Amino acid sequence: MDISERIRYVGVNDLDKVLFESQWPLKYGISYNSYLVVDEKIALIDTVDIAFKKEFYENIRSAIGERTIDYLVVNHMEPDHSALISFIRSEYPNIEIVMNPKAVPMINGFQGITDNITAVKDGDELNLGHTTLRFYAIPMVHWPETMVTYCVEEKTAFSGDAFGSFGSVMNCITDTSCDTYEKYQDEIIRYYSNIVGKFGQPVQNALKKLSSLELKRICPTHGPVWETHLKEVVALYDKMSRYETEKGVCIVYGSMYGNTEKAALSLADELKSRGVKYAIHNLSFENPSYAYEDVFKYSIIAAGAPTYNNDIFPPVRHFLYGVCSRFVRNHSFFSFGSYSWAGGSVKLMDEMMAAHGFCILTEGLAFKQGYRKEECDMGAVADLIKQS
Ligand code: FEO
Repeated sequence: MDISERIRYVGVNDLDKVLFESQWPLKYGISYNSYLVVDEKIALIDTVDIAFKKEFYENIRSAIGERTIDYLVVNHMEPDHSALISFIRSEYPNIEIVMNPKAVPMINGFQGITDNITAVKDGDELNLGHTTLRFYAIPMVHWPETMVTYCVEEKTAFSGDAFGSFGSVMNCITDTSCDTYEKYQDEIIRYYSNIVGKFGQPVQNALKKLSSLELKRICPTHGPVWETHLKEVVALYDKMSRYETEKGVCIVYGSMYGNTEKAALSLADELKSRGVKYAIHNLSFENPSYAYEDVFKYSIIAAGAPTYNNDIFPPVRHFLYGVCSRFVRNHSFFSFGSYSWAGGSVKLMDEMMAAHGFCILTEGLAFKQGYRKEECDMGAVADLIKQS
């Protein structure tokens, strides 16, 4: 597909993979986007997942026929975009690889490639004839070697994973060709919160560095090309990387015998009756991916966990560890849970989250063995949340 007169889409859609990075469910598949910039010289921007070698090559041949590719620009060395570099070199033996200096040892480490590499610094340019590619390092969005390639004449940023989304782009590669923003919004947030969410400050640095560029479109490595909704997507990234949320509660819980679950459902009912937005996730059965998404939407985390082996019930501990490791800021926290036979999980959760900068909304509520409302009054907690 032609994105413009000079830019062709040669990416692929993966509808088979169940877990991205062997962790994150793909409800609507995922795309691995790759682009050709065609002028007197031709540049290929990134490759695709190893499973799509044949389809990728057919897309390239369909776009440029017998012409050769002069440059392969590698914006990111993670294998979902770099795995076919060796294959592309075998088909186009004179191709020059263009990458950030930090990617040079990685391409050797992943694929043993050490020659025909040009390392580019911030602001370096590559001339394709009448088209100029300019390179900007955006370290830690979300690997150290990540960079953006800016096509000056097309006012187009090839952004790597930044501004990417889960979800395939079958028949809908640009948001101009079909109105995709609403459809993809949740999956942009889930992609960000799962993959990039730890790196809020590097994203802020990247947004600042790129803010002076005139942009007509953003071409990420996953999800739609943003043209019509470009400003909304940039604003959403700015908001998420500042950990700015709307008032609401992400309730997460685990429950062995249903007592902590009763408390979680009671909190949900009390919030609902007060008109407070919330989402609820049973982490014993749900992939935490969706709860991380809601952490980046809502300002409060309420976590319910029974005490298990004198510790926090493991699925909830795992999730809270993931929240802390994402350096989530500007959030409040509330804990609750069944005492089980020894107690302790509520205190441990409060200590863990306080140590990571969370504002503890109120002391956690533990109930001995079975759930009893008088020991764990979620109405009072919902009042507190409503007023906060
Ligand atoms: Fe889509 Fe960080 O790779």
